[in-house]
Formats: sequence, C-alpha cells, structure tokens
Amino acid sequence: MQNLTTLKDIDLENKKVLLRVDYNVVTDGKITDEFRVRASLPTIDYLIKKNCSIILISHNGRPEGKVVESMSLRPVARLLPRLLGRDVTFIDECTGDEVQQEAEFLRAGDIMLLENLRFNPGEEKNDSGFAKELASLAEVYVDDAFAAIHRAHASTVGVAKLLPHAAGLLVQKEYDTFEMLMEKPKRPYTAVIGGAKISDKLGILKEILNHVDALLIGGAMANTFLLAKGHNMRSSKVEKDKLKEALSIMRKAQTKKIKLLLPVDLVVSKSVDDKNKPKTVNTDGLQAGDIALDLGPKTMDLFNSVISESKTVFWNGTLGIAELPKFAKASSSMAHSMISSDAKTIVGGGDTAAFVDKAELESHFSFVSTGGGASLQLLAGNKLPGIEILLRK
Ligand code: ADP
Ligand code: 3PG
Ligand code: MG
Repeated sequence: MQNLTTLKDIDLENKKVLLRVDYNVVTDGKITDEFRVRASLPTIDYLIKKNCSIILISHNGRPEGKVVESMSLRPVARLLPRLLGRDVTFIDECTGDEVQQEAEFLRAGDIMLLENLRFNPGEEKNDSGFAKELASLAEVYVDDAFAAIHRAHASTVGVAKLLPHAAGLLVQKEYDTFEMLMEKPKRPYTAVIGGAKISDKLGILKEILNHVDALLIGGAMANTFLLAKGHNMRSSKVEKDKLKEALSIMRKAQTKKIKLLLPVDLVVSKSVDDKNKPKTVNTDGLQAGDIALDLGPKTMDLFNSVISESKTVFWNGTLGIAELPKFAKASSSMAHSMISSDAKTIVGGGDTAAFVDKAELESHFSFVSTGGGASLQLLAGNKLPGIEILLRK
C-alpha cells in the first residue's frame, strides 16, 4: 500500500481549511454515536494549533438530495462545543451567499459546521459545480471522513481535485491499521463478520478469505448461510437471492482450507419486543414464527475458542440485535473474549463501534475503526476513491 499525503506534507499555518468529517451519527434528530464525533477531535485540535480556521463538512443519512429536517447536522453543532471547549457556528446550508460571507470572516481558531451535504443533489453525483462552490470556501482541503472514504462524492473526491489536500489524523491512523491487516497480520488471523447488511458484505467476505485463517459468521448474515446449508430459518431475516453466493463462499473456504464457522445455536423469539420470552435452540430446532435475534452460548464457546488462539482479530457487524441488551449477549461475549486475548484486536463498522463504545470497552481494543463499508472494502483490497486521491504522488 502506498503512503498518504499527511498534514505534515502541506502548508497549514494560518490557512482556511475545509475539513471533511463523517458525522453520519444523527437519526431522527438525535445523536446515536458520539464516537465518530470524538474521533474527529485530534485533527481539529491539530489545525487549531496551526492557527487555521475550520469549515467542517459532513453528510448524514441518505436524504437523496432533499432537505430532510430530521437528518440535519444541527445536533452535532450543539455537541461539538462541549467536546471542544470552543464555540462552533452552524449554518443551515452548505453553499450560497451566507456560507460564503461567514467563511470569509473566519479568523484563526474559528470553527463553522455546514448543513448536511446530501441535502444538495450535487454531493452524491460528485457534481463539479457543487465541488467548486465548496472548494471556493477554503484554501486547503483535509479529509478525515474515513467512514465515507469509499464514496466518490463532491466532498470526498471533487474538492480534493481543486485544493491542496491531505489526509487527516483519523484517516491516516485508519489507513495504517488496515495496511497492517492487509500486509502483515500476525497469524492466526481471524475475521468475525456479523450484522444486517448481508448484500453489502457477501462479496467482501469472499475476498477476505484470501487473507484470513478463520472466518466466524454471526448476526442476520449467518441466517442466509444456514438457510443455504438447508436449515429452516423460519421467520428470521434472510436474503434468499444470496444463497448461491453464500454457498460459493463456503466452497471457497473449504478449497482454501480456511476454518469457516457458523452458529450452532441461536437465541430466538416470536418478536423483538418484550411480549415473548426469548429461548435458545439449536440451528435445526427453530419452530414456526421463530426469529433468530442473537447467537447461543454453544456458538459463543466455539467462536471464543478460535479467538483465544488468534494473534489478530478483525470484527465487523454485531452478532445479534445488540441495540437491545437482551439480544446483545453474543456481541458482548465476543467483545470480552477479544479484549482478554493476546491478539491485536481491531473493530470496524458504525454499529459495532457504537456497541463497543457504549459498553465502555473501546480503550481495551487495539483499534476501533469508525468505518463500516469503508473498512470492509479496504480489507477486500479494493481501491477506494477517497484514498486514491490522497495518495502521495
Ligand atoms: P456495522 O454498522 O457495524 O457495519 P451492520 O450495520 O452491518 O454493522 O450490522 C449491525 C446491525 O445488524 C444492527 O442494527 C443489528 O441490529 C443488526 N443485526 C444483527 N443481528 C441481527 C439479526 N439476527 N437479525 C436482524 N438484525 C440483526
Ligand atoms: C457510514 O456510516 O457507513 C458512512 O457514513 C457512509 O454512509 P453511506 O453508506 O450512506 O454512504
Ligand atoms: Mg451499520
């Protein structure tokens, strides 16, 4: 992997900096994940020490080019002053006269946060006019939005083409960690993949088999594999159009002699709410109406024994509906077995990182990535547009 252009490579003293961060943390007007916001602070502090003024830009959710009030970044503008100990001005637009004027008057140490970039249709289209408007606000562009680095959007790629640019401290740290995982992981190297976004992850699972010694699959993702193996998953979340892919991943693991483990027991219930008491069943024991919502204790014993023998572990995707404590047991057990092992432990994924952060375990891992799709794509060896543009020429 090549080196990135870093903050040390560009002239920052007294500059106006457009800082792309990933504050995709607001759902229905509430911040669900402070972790990503805290992860952006070291670069902000660094820039302030260089007497920069900072224009923070981010997307949130998928408003598809329209203003959706519940996806506004305003809640982050309220949180930032508490974390930074400084005022942060919020502008409810990201282009236009008011933004231009406010940007012009910024002085060293001033910080301004613009509204959700995706309220503008130009963002996701990587529209050159929109990129120009953003670029016109500043003298330098810094990308610290690791979680969005796999997106070729105006604020990730478009502006970088127009301004002197560098990776922020978070992007640099994330990139270095994944470089280590790709190029020199201590073996045995185990990947634990769970979560809900089955279609996002199946293709990547196939690639990960080129790097790991063991692959442990949990979450709703495992349901599709179990179904492909002939288990009746009843009312569990499955992706029937991905059965062939699941089979091909299992075949590839077999050919490459990689240990691929699926759940052997599951915690099931007839509904996610409290109306029904969850029970533990073997994977061939699901009854009509049962929904698999977490992994069972036998599975966790099996998974944890692989973790205890690993020297490197990467975990993406919670192993059950970990947002609800009663279905967070497998994820919690995985977190604890990782942190009590001798392995280098790396966690990736928005929900997984949020889970670890909420359980106050973050500092016990070697590294907790802020990226979900981005980290998986890097691990799959894909070239990511946001990274390519930041590579040192
Ligand atoms: P990340 O954001 O860490 O990449 P994902 O978004 O892929 O992870 O997966 C996390 C989501 O997966 C959580 O919202 C969780 O509720 C869901 N999930 C995990 N297990 C199950 C399951 N058995 N059934 C339905 N959803 C699940
Ligand atoms: C994420 O949370 O994974 C990133 O912010 C990217 O969001 P997106 O998948 O909507 O592009
Ligand atoms: Mg997620």
